[in-house]
Amino acid sequence: MASFVTSQSRPLRGSIKVPGDKSISHRSIMLGSIATGITKVSGFLQGEDSLATLNSFKEMGVQIDRQGSNVIINGVGMHGLKEPTKPLNLGNSGTSIRLMSGLLSAQNFDSELCGDESLSKRPMARVIEPLSRMGADISGRDSRPPLIIKGGKKLSSLNYTLPVASAQIKSCLLLAGLYADGETHIIENGISRDHTERMLRGFGYKVNTSPGEVSIIGGGSLKACNIEVPSDISSSAFFMVAASIAKEADITLLAVNVNPTRTGVIDILRLMGANIKLINERLEAGELIADIRICSSKLKGINIPEHLVPLAIDEFPVIFVAASCAKGETVLTGAKELRVKESDRIQVMADGLSSLGIENEVLDDGIKIVGGEFKEQLAPIKSHHDHRISMSFAVASVRSNFEINIDGVDNVKTSFPNFVELANSIGMSIIETN
Ligand code: S3P
Repeated sequence: MASFVTSQSRPLRGSIKVPGDKSISHRSIMLGSIATGITKVSGFLQGEDSLATLNSFKEMGVQIDRQGSNVIINGVGMHGLKEPTKPLNLGNSGTSIRLMSGLLSAQNFDSELCGDESLSKRPMARVIEPLSRMGADISGRDSRPPLIIKGGKKLSSLNYTLPVASAQIKSCLLLAGLYADGETHIIENGISRDHTERMLRGFGYKVNTSPGEVSIIGGGSLKACNIEVPSDISSSAFFMVAASIAKEADITLLAVNVNPTRTGVIDILRLMGANIKLINERLEAGELIADIRICSSKLKGINIPEHLVPLAIDEFPVIFVAASCAKGETVLTGAKELRVKESDRIQVMADGLSSLGIENEVLDDGIKIVGGEFKEQLAPIKSHHDHRISMSFAVASVRSNFEINIDGVDNVKTSFPNFVELANSIGMSIIETN
C-alpha cells in the first residue's frame, strides 16, 4: 500500500498543465469506437480509469492505438462491436461501468461488467431500473457490480425523470437511446455535466436540449471526428485550493476545461473569498477552455448554495480542506451523493479532518466544518483508497509545518498519475513511499 508523506511547502509559484479531463477521455473512446471512420484524440488522460474504458473497447474488437496521450480509434460503426471473450474489468471507474451499461444493453451480444472492491459496492439500481424500462436485460448482484447484460434486446423509447442529478445516469440512457426505437427523453432536476451531449453533437448526432431536459432519437449514426481533451477542472481543483490557502501563492493552471456544468468549485471558492481569475477564455471543439490564475487569499466560511452541489460534485473533498482553513463555519447540505462515490466522502473526510484537529459535524446529507489550524496527527489518514481523498489531504500540507501521512494513495493514478510531480514542481513537498 503506497502512502504520501508531506512536509512544509515553499511559496507556490509557476504555470502548470494538469492532465486531460477524465469524463471527456472516457466519452472519446466510447463514441469514437461506435463512430464510422478514424477518431484522433489528443490530451487523453493516461489514468487507470480512462485506460480501463480504452482496454474494454479493445476487448470488443475495436482497433485503438495509443502513444502516450495521443489515441487513434478505428471506429467500427454503431453495430460493429464484438462480444468480449471475458468479463470487462472496469477497475475503480463508476463512469465506465454506468455509461457502458447503457451502450452494451443495446448490443446483440451478452456482456459482464465488473470492477475492484470499491466499484463492487457502488449502487447500480440507478441504471438497471431505467434501462430495464427500455427493455434491457441487465442485472447486478444485489443491484451492484458485477453487471450481467443479455444482448439481443430491442430497446424502446423512454420518458424519464432522473432521481438524482447525475451525468452518469443521463449519459447511460443517452447511449442506450442511440439504439432505441423512438425518442429517449430525460428530465433533470439539477444541472449535471453535459459532455455527452456536446460530444454527440461533435460526432454529428442530433441532440435536443432545453434547460433541464435532453432528448435524442435512436437509429442514427456517428461520424468520426478529432478531439482535443482539455485539462481536467477536477484535478485542477487541488491546486486552486492549495494556492488559495497557502501564503504568497501565485500559480496559473493552463488550458483547463471551464464548461459551465463543471465550474461549481470556482463559484464556491469565490464565495469564500478566493482570488481566482479566468484568462484567455476560448472555445475548442465545443468545450470552453481558460487559463486559471490563483493567488493567496483569506477565505471565510459560507453556506454552500445547494444548486452548486452537482456542479462541484467531485471537488468537495478538497473544498472541505479549504473550509478547514477559512474563518468561521462552512455548511454543506444537499450532498448525499457524496456518500456513494469511490468512498463515503463525507465520513472519510470528516474522520481525516478530525485527526488533523479540525472541528466538524457530519450531517446526513453534508457536513459542517469550523475553520481552524491543522494539528499534528496521531495516526496516518486513511484515504479508503479514494484518489480524491488522498490528494485533498496532500493539499492540506501547504498550511501545516509538520508532516502529514496519508495511507492508501495507490488510486491517485486512476485520475491524476503525475499529481506528486506537478505538486512538487510548484513548491509543494510530497514524497510517495511504498
Ligand atoms: C461523471 C459524473 C459524476 C462524477 C464522476 C464523473 C461523468 O458522477 O462524480 O466522477 O463523467 O459523467 P454523477 O454524475 O453520477 O454524479
